[in-house]
Amino acid sequence: MTTAIVLAAGKGTRMRSDLPKVAHRAMGRTLVGWVLAALEPLHLDETVVVVGHGADEVRAVLPDEVTVAVQEPQRGTADAVEVGLAAAAPTERVLVIPGDMPLLTTATLEGLLAAHADAEAAATMLTAVLDDPTGYGRVVRDDAGRVLAVVEERDADAATRAIHEMNTSVYVFDTAALAAVLPRIGDANHQGERYLTDAVGLLVADGATIATLTTDPEEAEGVNTHVQLAHVAAVLRRRINRRLMEAGVAMVDPDRIHVEADVAVAPGATLWPNVYLRGATEIAAGAEVGPDVDALDTTIAEGARVRNAVLDGAVVGPRATVGPYAYLRPGAVLEEGAKAGCHVEIKNSVVGRGSKVPHLAYVGDATIGEDSNLGAGTVTVNYDGYEKHRTIIGDRVRIGSDTMLVAPVEIGDEAYTGAGSVITRDVPPGTLAVERSPQTHVEGYAERRKRRAQEKRG
Ligand code: UD1
Ligand code: CA
Repeated sequence: MTTAIVLAAGKGTRMRSDLPKVAHRAMGRTLVGWVLAALEPLHLDETVVVVGHGADEVRAVLPDEVTVAVQEPQRGTADAVEVGLAAAAPTERVLVIPGDMPLLTTATLEGLLAAHADAEAAATMLTAVLDDPTGYGRVVRDDAGRVLAVVEERDADAATRAIHEMNTSVYVFDTAALAAVLPRIGDANHQGERYLTDAVGLLVADGATIATLTTDPEEAEGVNTHVQLAHVAAVLRRRINRRLMEAGVAMVDPDRIHVEADVAVAPGATLWPNVYLRGATEIAAGAEVGPDVDALDTTIAEGARVRNAVLDGAVVGPRATVGPYAYLRPGAVLEEGAKAGCHVEIKNSVVGRGSKVPHLAYVGDATIGEDSNLGAGTVTVNYDGYEKHRTIIGDRVRIGSDTMLVAPVEIGDEAYTGAGSVITRDVPPGTLAVERSPQTHVEGYAERRKRRAQEKRG
């Protein structure tokens, strides 16, 4: 029986942000969300997240399954664990993990739990050996290599500062052993905080064994600044891309492809450079996306082709094409084989199977049937300054270039509109609607103009 306690009550002063540190995002997921995602496959009995600074904002990004414990005020990591333990149902082991370590993997946490079980230790610490351990707590060992204590940088002498093995702040504790030493942890240190690291020294003093597992330095990286946030995001991005490529997604220049954590890309899809797939976006097999696409909460079906486009809450059907230079806004649905071409904006509209909006158009609040074509410059005039109105276009309709469709208006199946028409009344099926003044010719105009100019000059 194991409980995880995630420490997330600290302020994160160095982010210089009103948003609590663990609520910042890397590749679309909050820092604490990455930690919870690493814990999830372990199926531990309970996960407690200790919140404090910006508690409501942190709570808002947590899933319902976790137990939330509030630490107020924040008196240090030992105090935070005490608060977490008080909120949890009793279990034999406690896995302590900081909420700002998004690079920790499930495999490493599994390894730590296994090492703890093997060693039958009171505590097992995850450590890393860093070239530059500045700022971290150092792991002090005796000549036989047994852990004696963890000393914080600020409380360390020169010899201790020279140690390269650091404390990641990820530990497994025997709950009873931890509970026995926690009340003895004071705050007589440089920061005046109750340090969880003191539990290590106290356990050793009681004759207990401390085991360690040393991990890859990359996983030990925490986030304290925006520089570190950007760095962990880059690592996470590469991990996501590697996983997708291994699963069969083709990537042209993966260093320039951003796929957020909760995006699904099916094997057999191809992503080109400068693609940002965000939120709950889904890309099906055989779809080609990019270059230069920003897609948020968008579904792109099999065989679709999307390039140089911004899509937000859109659905692109099988073999549909989008772009270059298209903007699909929430509720834009392209059915199978439909097209939204160059400089086309579509919002809250369905473009039916095989229908095309190839160039320079605004389509808002419209329903377009099958195999219809909207000429260049078509605008659905959907807003009268007070309310939005719908435009209904049937099947096999031909809308002439530069037609204004003043909604509410309905164009029947197989109807036509003449180029440049302002359509304010419904057009019955099979009808051609033309709304423009008859063309007049002023003959000899050019000659007359020249003559007038000559007369002026004298
Ligand atoms: C801590 C460790 C240090 C280790 C380092 C690794 C202590 C005393 N030191 O230092 O040995 O090398 O992590 O990154 O534990 N928190 C609370 N409540 C508090 C204080 C902190 O929830 O009262 C949370 C923070 O939000 C953070 C984590 O605990 O997620 C670590 O706290 P922080 O103050 O950042 O400790 P470090 O100085 O980084
Ligand atoms: Ca820290």
